Amino acid sequence: MIPMLTRFLLTLCLTAFPIALRSAPVSGEAVYKQHCASCHDSGNTRAPSRDDLKNLPVTRIVRALEFGLMSNVGVPLRAEERDAVAAYLGSPVATQRIPEKAYCADRSIKFTPQIGPQWNGWSPSPGNTRYQSASAAGLTVDQVRRLKLKWAYGFDGDLVAFAQPAVLGR
Ligand code: HEC
Repeated sequence: MIPMLTRFLLTLCLTAFPIALRSAPVSGEAVYKQHCASCHDSGNTRAPSRDDLKNLPVTRIVRALEFGLMSNVGVPLRAEERDAVAAYLGSPVATQRIPEKAYCADRSIKFTPQIGPQWNGWSPSPGNTRYQSASAAGLTVDQVRRLKLKWAYGFDGDLVAFAQPAVLGR
């Protein structure tokens, strides 16, 4: 029979040890060394160096690990590990704010409801062909290759947009 004191100590260890493990702070440096350094410290010219990563806001690194280019490395990690490695690497404040001049002066939304939606999902029609006719686009095939970027929309602090644009009352 296990003496009373031994049993008490055993119970204490079995209960306290997993709690201690769970609440132990995650070391961002340790996560980096184990999961990131092999590429980011290797002189691999495609992977940004640690100095480059310092310029990225912490939130942006978390997004890259959860949804962006690094999601294959980041998703198997625990959220605490992603947060810790991002805090270890990145800059605490967003250094790359969108400049005010990037926004249109008039940001009100105007549309003619009578025209109705042209693209309200993955395609302009229920046939889901994703085909845009020249008349609906107001363009010919020939003009397409001469198009220049007129505007772009940045999602502040974000990297990836998952949705199709909707076209309404154009
Ligand atoms: C197998 C190699 C590899 C590993 C492991 C790796 N990375 Fe990367 N990482 C890359 C490469 C290559 C790029 C550049 C990708 C590109 O621009 O197409 C990159 C880009 C990034 C970027 C910039 C993403 C962006 O959207 O601009 C961040 C942030 C990043 N890595 C963080 C991490 C962190 C944090 C880890 C560890 C948890 C990690 N990476 C592990 C190879 C790796």
